[in-house]
Amino acid sequence: MITDSMANEQAKEAAARASLGFIKDGHIVGIGSGSTVAHFIRLLAEQVKKGLRIRGIPTSEYSRLEAARLGISLTTLDECQQIDVTVDGADEVDPQLRLIKGGGGALLREKIVASVSKRLVIVADSTKTVPVLGRFPLPVEVIKFAQAVLKKRIEALGAQVALRRAANGDPYVTDENNHILDCRFGTIGDPDRLGQQLSNMPGVVEHGLFIGMASVALVAEGSEVVEVKAGSRA
Ligand code: A5P
Repeated sequence: MITDSMANEQAKEAAARASLGFIKDGHIVGIGSGSTVAHFIRLLAEQVKKGLRIRGIPTSEYSRLEAARLGISLTTLDECQQIDVTVDGADEVDPQLRLIKGGGGALLREKIVASVSKRLVIVADSTKTVPVLGRFPLPVEVIKFAQAVLKKRIEALGAQVALRRAANGDPYVTDENNHILDCRFGTIGDPDRLGQQLSNMPGVVEHGLFIGMASVALVAEGSEVVEVKAGSRA
């Protein structure tokens, strides 16, 4: 019997496999974070074993360790300031390829890596596509000192705001030693405006709205993958 979660895993793997077509010999490759990208890292490592020469720049400590463990050569933004292709997941994708990211807590490095990538390829199963962003709580990375103030300020914009916690109940700490506020807006009618409002708040390090960054989304249902470009629908 195929369960929903097995079908979901199959879709994640199919999307990750399709993204390999964007990666060429000699590329600097941004390596995203999350469970869909975990498939990508494994599949990319298989290609490396077969002779593909790339260097990766991971967006999280977790992805860095995993890529290194599987034998992918890595570099850093200190050595290399432009990336050919980044493959990353998303928590929500709208028809304009605006994204919510950061469910896994890596949004800051993910956005920096995306911002220096010639191409950002999003890999997702079809449950991530939405007509309007906002069902998924928007992660906002904040400096610890400001978190209580920012919680109130973001609540004043109409969101229910919760400090993210780790499994042991302590506040979750990002790779850059910040905290995350998960902000439930319900629907985000104007993502550009909200992104600007959040960026203007002192103490916000970065928010999980990725606007105008994705080049293409590879959206999978089962083993079927649809390539979505901004303006088209899956
Ligand atoms: C990590 O911080 C996120 O931005 C991920 O890209 C996003 O949460 C998608 O993760 P999954 O592939 O695990 O759903």
